[in-house]
Amino acid sequence: MERLQKVIAASGIASRRKAEDLIANGKVKVNGEVVTELGTKVSDKDEIEVNNEIIEKETKEYYLLNKPRGVVSTTSDEKGRKTVTDLIPTKARIYPVGRLDYDTTGVLLLTNDGDFTNILMHPNNEVDKVYMAKLKGIIKGEQINKLQDGVELDDEVVKATKVKLKKVDQKNNTCMVQITIHEGKNHQVKRMFESVGYEVLKLKRERVAFFDLKDLQSGEFRKLTPKEVAKVFSLK
Ligand code: URA
Repeated sequence: MERLQKVIAASGIASRRKAEDLIANGKVKVNGEVVTELGTKVSDKDEIEVNNEIIEKETKEYYLLNKPRGVVSTTSDEKGRKTVTDLIPTKARIYPVGRLDYDTTGVLLLTNDGDFTNILMHPNNEVDKVYMAKLKGIIKGEQINKLQDGVELDDEVVKATKVKLKKVDQKNNTCMVQITIHEGKNHQVKRMFESVGYEVLKLKRERVAFFDLKDLQSGEFRKLTPKEVAKVFSLK
């Protein structure tokens, strides 16, 4: 439990002194009720409003994780599987920015900042999501063109902004294809390749915007720098 003015000040919207004034002037509600008593103690679970706006109590945190295979991209899993947030020790209620499948690896950002998430996820911002896919079979130029021209998923046409054949393994009849998309539909890359006749055997996300896996081994994470966070806000 913490003193109300301390929690308000910690949210960054006012100094401790200003927070005390706000409380004394009846501008603060706890769980919908006006509170004017300065010493009031609140817990994490209490909802605090200042001037009728719910305050964000936590400071913002931002992480880049190299997601390993066999981890779910949620904050909890009903089947008890390991989640991406289990890999990052923090008390902040962070969540993944978009999802990678259980068997997909690579770049995953996590945060408790909804504005940051929206910038990266909104298709209008055209943020690159670059994947390396191992396909069963060897893709043909015609199929690459189809992916770039647009294929139908969920009654919508989605396009790859770039598709590059990187490697061909004739012996095993597989190939490696780099594909860039801007949306983040469920299983989008797998379904796009399926729609032109190829099964994805392995999938790794190499980059989101300017975030890549440099210096991060599978399962490792790091905090974003303030400069990187500011750069994301400038993508809007
Ligand atoms: N597309 C997919 O099919 N799976 C992912 O995990 C990410 C994008």
